[in-house]
Amino acid sequence: MTEGVFGRETGHEQVVHCQDPVTGLKAIIAVYSTALGPALGGTRFYPYAREEDALTDVLALSKGMAYKNALAGLDLGGGKAVIIGDPAKDKSEALLRAYGRFVQSLGGRYITACDVGTYVADMDVVARETKYVTGRSPDDGGAGDSSVLTAFGVFQGMRAAAGHRWGTTDLAGRRVGVSGVGKVGFILVGHLVDAGAHVVVTDVSGAAIDRVRAAHPGVEVVPDAETLVRTPLDVFAPCALGGALNDETVPVLATEIVCGAANNQLAHPGVEKQLVDRGILYAPDYLVNAGGVIQVSDELHGFDFARAKRKATAIFDTTKAVFALGDAEGVPPATAADRLAERRMSEVGRLRSILLP
Ligand SMILES: NC(=O)c1ccc[n+]([C@@H]2O[C@H](COP(=O)([O-])OP(=O)(O)OC[C@H]3O[C@@H](n4cnc5c(N)ncnc54)[C@H](O)[C@@H]3O)[C@@H](O)[C@H]2O)c1
Repeated sequence: MTEGVFGRETGHEQVVHCQDPVTGLKAIIAVYSTALGPALGGTRFYPYAREEDALTDVLALSKGMAYKNALAGLDLGGGKAVIIGDPAKDKSEALLRAYGRFVQSLGGRYITACDVGTYVADMDVVARETKYVTGRSPDDGGAGDSSVLTAFGVFQGMRAAAGHRWGTTDLAGRRVGVSGVGKVGFILVGHLVDAGAHVVVTDVSGAAIDRVRAAHPGVEVVPDAETLVRTPLDVFAPCALGGALNDETVPVLATEIVCGAANNQLAHPGVEKQLVDRGILYAPDYLVNAGGVIQVSDELHGFDFARAKRKATAIFDTTKAVFALGDAEGVPPATAADRLAERRMSEVGRLRSILLP
């Protein structure tokens, strides 16, 4: 597609609007690229105020998945879907199954999974109508909760960043701040405590903090993210919402490395350069948080946790390669990551032009 809906130049291969008035389903499926394989990406169920906001989100998210999957070394392209509605009120078996039928109708060009507002149990329902779905329940042969390998991958990226900055991957004695100790942040704290790091956390949820305190009594707690970014740290790990690195936080960040799970950490283009100017090493978010997609994509071959974990371990080497390319080409790591992903999409994607008998 060269000219998008609303006249946008998006570069997407395919954007499909799906509607079923009886169940109330209104969804948009965006396939950014199938250069490396079927476009895998989750389904976001969110009460967008305007259809145009949903379209903007799905176009950006599907492009992001193409880059993430490419850099993770997966034979998968990038796509994403949004269902417009309030998941608490509008989600029903019939709506999810109607959605599943639209996914099936794309014949495997798009493979769905969980995202904000959708859960493993929802994917089990979607799977009753389509085989192009991952992130189902373990009882059903699914990969289950993807936060396990997401946190593990972030930890690998952090070790690689430590090696690049300090010449040792050992995080023992390092002060690591984790902003957001939900599904991923909580597991990440466990890896850090095991590695001997001094962990400082914050979360807007008292229950999330209580859970960390109960499991890891030695962890330090600060009241909010504003305090955490000003706290002297060796590593800052944003694990809550997007936009953690912005015009307010970057100037005051007191850390040497940023490496966390949150998607879209850079609030706007240019922040990656501000981080370089402040001497802060940024491990690109979509590189280090790819453990989750590695976990759910493994389900497509019959889920094997050990195999998926081995693949997620490779995030360590890819992070090193991204820093090395950034240094060699004189660009921030975020730009280097984009270049590596684009290179793989183009070099490996091109091979399909070799006709097989
Ligand atoms: N779960 C995965 O497999 C996965 C994969 C890739 C990326 N991510 C990204 O990682 C991040 C965390 O995902 P998750 O699955 O752990 O989500 P989650 O909802 O379980 O956890 C997020 C936590 O952040 C806290 N939080 C929200 N706003 C905050 C604020 N202003 N300050 C401090 N804490 C705040 C929430 O209370 C919650 O405990 C998200 O950005 C997500 O998109 C997750």
